[in-house]
Amino acid sequence: MVDAAPTPKENMGQPVPRIDARLKVTGGARYPADIPVSNLAYGVLVTSTIARGRITALDVEAARATPGIIAVLTENEVKGRIAKPEFGGSNATSIAPLQGADIAHDGEIIALVVGETFEAAREGAMLVHVDYAKETPSTSLYSQGAETVAAVDASKRFKEDPKVGNFDENLAASQVKIEADYFMPTQHHNPIELFSTTAAWNGDELVVYEPSQNVTGWKIEIAKQLKIDPERVRVVSPFIGGAFGSKGPITPRTALVAYAAKLLGRPVRCVVSRMQSFTTMTYRAETRHHIEIGATQDGRITAFKHEGFEVTSRPDPYLVGGTTATALMYNYGSVLTKVSLVKTDRPTPGYMRSPPETPYVYALENAMDEMAVALNMDPVEFRRINDTMVEPIKHRRFTSRSLMTCFDAAASEFRWSERKSEPGSMREGDWLIGMGCATAIYPTNIAPCAVRVRLTADGRVRVQTASHEIGTGIRTVAAQVAAERLGVATEMVDIEMGDTILPPAPVAGGSNSTASVCSAIMKACDEILDQLFYSASSSKEGALSKARVDEMKVANGEVVSERASEKIADILSRSGEGAIEQYTEFLPEGASPQGVSNLYKGKLEMIGGESGKQAIRFAFGAEFVEVWVHKHTREIRVPRIVGAFAGGRIINPKTARSQLMGGMIWGISSALHEATEFDHREARVVNRDLQDYLVPVNADIKEVTVILVPEVDDKVNPAGVKGLGELGNVGTAAAIASAVYNATGKRVRDLPIRVDTLIGEA
Ligand code: MOS
Repeated sequence: MVDAAPTPKENMGQPVPRIDARLKVTGGARYPADIPVSNLAYGVLVTSTIARGRITALDVEAARATPGIIAVLTENEVKGRIAKPEFGGSNATSIAPLQGADIAHDGEIIALVVGETFEAAREGAMLVHVDYAKETPSTSLYSQGAETVAAVDASKRFKEDPKVGNFDENLAASQVKIEADYFMPTQHHNPIELFSTTAAWNGDELVVYEPSQNVTGWKIEIAKQLKIDPERVRVVSPFIGGAFGSKGPITPRTALVAYAAKLLGRPVRCVVSRMQSFTTMTYRAETRHHIEIGATQDGRITAFKHEGFEVTSRPDPYLVGGTTATALMYNYGSVLTKVSLVKTDRPTPGYMRSPPETPYVYALENAMDEMAVALNMDPVEFRRINDTMVEPIKHRRFTSRSLMTCFDAAASEFRWSERKSEPGSMREGDWLIGMGCATAIYPTNIAPCAVRVRLTADGRVRVQTASHEIGTGIRTVAAQVAAERLGVATEMVDIEMGDTILPPAPVAGGSNSTASVCSAIMKACDEILDQLFYSASSSKEGALSKARVDEMKVANGEVVSERASEKIADILSRSGEGAIEQYTEFLPEGASPQGVSNLYKGKLEMIGGESGKQAIRFAFGAEFVEVWVHKHTREIRVPRIVGAFAGGRIINPKTARSQLMGGMIWGISSALHEATEFDHREARVVNRDLQDYLVPVNADIKEVTVILVPEVDDKVNPAGVKGLGELGNVGTAAAIASAVYNATGKRVRDLPIRVDTLIGEA
């Protein structure tokens, strides 16, 4: 097999190619803004050019007079007609556009221009004239006027700052100490598929076409904002061209466009421009980290402190909160943590791939490398000494933790033993070579999920669930699980997803989808098999007549018992049934009894990670990176990166590898490329397009090796699956910072690491 389709190891399924691959590469996959809708009008947003203050005059006359303009919606048309969203749950922000004259952030939506064509609407939007009364905004963590509050007081999602033991005493008594601050900048989502809303009414029935990671939650929220019955709302999102958290929570644009469509009696499509998506959508909050570690001379950590500071908007306490991961990473003797939110005049931040872990584990793992250097110890051995099967805070076991197995597998593939620890001691011509490594961790989550599975007499299977294919391969793994459970070929399974007319599924977030959807499908298939076996056994005729149900299995389209077998099609046709269909609701262990009914109401109960009483659920990995830094120009290259990951059962090694590889590439991006830059006087984004917002291109990414480490965990959930969507980009940036140190002797703590960061160093 080729690298892209790794040979399955223990507890892994087949590397089946994506069942929707052909549709995607031939243009057959319709993304929401591609879906044809007749009599469409086009909406273009007008956004504010100040970050704080008030609109004093909004002149739309010239816009209205433009040929092809149908309407210009401002506060006058909208105020009071759309209910203000509440922050949290399915909502990205409580900052509601067109509800008043106040401006809460740069690029806030202040009008919606609707035209016969996109071009007309855009021209109209450019002619809207706005006068403001401007106030001085606060941009970031360090800005004057920014307000710092404790996360435990501000956020409902953050109950306590993890701590244990006497940190101060332990630190004072420790033989080796390090203390440093780390910084990860604001990063912006730039999915290739732009953000968009298309709203069409048929009488009082609304259909919204929009790329979404949470159609069920959105349906409820759209109804709430428009003050209509949720049963009148349908959200359609069959294919999504990149999401990673940005299409998880709904933003106020959706209800605004739907309202415009209602008002004008005509469908409206609004595609947000790349530049406007930098201010109307969510982003990764910038975070600062203060870390202190104390250890014994032989490398045992005795004291660990992690303080985090996170940017949020004025009204909404968006929480990153990554100490829930870093505080239980190693067998620290004592732990002290505190998370603070810093309120600024910015849009509300949101989820971006591994929202808490990427920044917090970056800081921890960079500090771990600093400590290994201070101890004059190999960084892998330093982690081995502090590895633990029991987390240090409440002493609960990990259901499984293959961290050191991952380190050993990746170290061997990477040839880590050839590394020289003295900085600057590995060279090739004008290039300084460095190697570094870091831990990856991500919580294993699961949520209630409903599915409908139908087995027809011709042996075909149809699986329906309102889950979301955000590029992870969920359609493919869902088909594999149904096929395996019902004993049919994968090609015989059809998958329908991404539409609220289907049984509700949880948000495609927190890497829960494979576990939740597959657990529900397994349950539904088992219920179908019960019926099928009963039908075979209770029949007066047929090879399986009177055979024992508990001895039956399915394989290759047949029901098989000890002595006889019969085709599924024959069993169904004899019983006179055309199909067996099962609507199944899956409630994970540990969820409340209302978990499923809450799902229908758009309220998600995500179970897992560190929420367990006796055991906690996490996936682990290890990443190794080689960097080359040019002696004179300080150009930084990453010729190779190796990651080894253990994720419980791997249903499809091909899609799993793809997820992890994508994560590692984003990790490289996070370390070396991405940062949203601000004009701090105005709190405005400067690099709001893909020309100035750096992301890696093919030439930046060389050899990326993914090792899938076999792991069996039957306690984690019924499917035995740990999510892999987010694990891959955790730790990458720290591994790169450590490799840069090994190459140059310079410890970089503020990301991104660029030429200018390293200039002037020997
Ligand atoms: Mo993920 S950022 O939880 O979609």
